[in-house]
Amino acid sequence: PAHAAVDQLGRAMHDLRISVTDRCNFRCTYCMPKDVFDRDHAFLPRSALLSFEEITRIAQLFVNQGVRKIRITGGEPLLRKQLERLIEQLARLDVEVTLTTNGALLAQKARSLADAGLRRVTVSLDALDDEVFRRMNDVGFPVERVLAGIAAAADAGLGPVKVNCVVKRGTNDGEILPLARHFRGSGHILRFIEFMDVGSHNGWNLDAVLPSREVVARIAAEFPLDALDANYTGEVAERWRYRDGSGEIGVIASVSHAFCRDCTRMRLSPEGQLFTCLFADRGHDLRALLRSGADDGALTARIRQVWRSRDDRYSELRGEANRAAKVEMSYIGG
Ligand code: GTP
Ligand code: 5AD
Ligand code: SF4
Ligand code: SF4
Repeated sequence: PAHAAVDQLGRAMHDLRISVTDRCNFRCTYCMPKDVFDRDHAFLPRSALLSFEEITRIAQLFVNQGVRKIRITGGEPLLRKQLERLIEQLARLDVEVTLTTNGALLAQKARSLADAGLRRVTVSLDALDDEVFRRMNDVGFPVERVLAGIAAAADAGLGPVKVNCVVKRGTNDGEILPLARHFRGSGHILRFIEFMDVGSHNGWNLDAVLPSREVVARIAAEFPLDALDANYTGEVAERWRYRDGSGEIGVIASVSHAFCRDCTRMRLSPEGQLFTCLFADRGHDLRALLRSGADDGALTARIRQVWRSRDDRYSELRGEANRAAKVEMSYIGG
């Protein structure tokens, strides 16, 4: 629209990512290390969470502002009770509704999610080898059940399924080729994400980052690849196709090749805080305003003001950003 809000770096707002819970049934070491996210960790109480009606009302305002893509995340979004109800409500808006999940509950939920109006899913999968996979999710979750979830999603019409693998050098980089061989020709799109320094607890260091160009080189040595154009400006994944026609892969080089310049994503936390960056140190509360009885005009003005003041470009700055605290990935979503 003509009046689209533009931030301090000239970026328009195109996507909304909604985190519906800060809980997860996995404890991936790079996201929710067990020793921090343990029995004593204070997860959000139910009363703090936005209701589905509140989320839908906010989403409608974003759609009015030109947002055409909504991604539901978590934590693990499928842990939120009756999530299908939210999807049904969001699907009535003029927007594409997608979801990022760890896949644990997908085999049983794919059909009801599709029926509710979900268009596509992205499933996280860090290894094909069961032992490596169990070690990475750190709750001993078996890989076959995620593979079954991916298959169920495709059967339910939620494909092409995107499969996201976070690569940690020395931990699962040996899984790159097995994953590529497995998903080649499947119709699913495998994507490798550079391990990022999200949150304050994930033990990140640069040595554990395997640059995306190396991922591409390793795969291309076995299966020749050609670069593809982006589907849309600001797409985070760089696309590559197998020369023999057996599909495509993607790499997300968030560390070695920052893509902040085209970052059009606003994020809404489970308790109604707006975050303008995955690495923000704080959010902007929308819930208080919402629950004080504010009308749509006041809420919209607040959303636009938050977007307009935004000057985030953490991944471009990284070392220089010198940030004391960062929001947790399990709270704000990927
Ligand atoms: P589609 O293109 O619609 O399939 O979605 P997407 O690739 O934007 O979404 P997805 O959730 O699959 O993103 C993949 C991964 O990229 C996330 O899990 C993050 O690790 C990373 N990512 C996504 N958005 C950002 C971002 O704004 N900043 C950074 N640094 N990383 C991001
Ligand atoms: N670095 C890169 N990606 C991450 N994700 C979670 N933590 C990290 C991290 N430290 C990804 C997950 C999933 C999505 C929710 O975010 O793999 O695909
Ligand atoms: Fe792993 Fe995703 Fe759960 Fe984080 S939110 S622990 S990345 S499954
Ligand atoms: Fe956007 Fe922040 Fe990621 Fe850069 S680091 S792409 S500004 S979310």
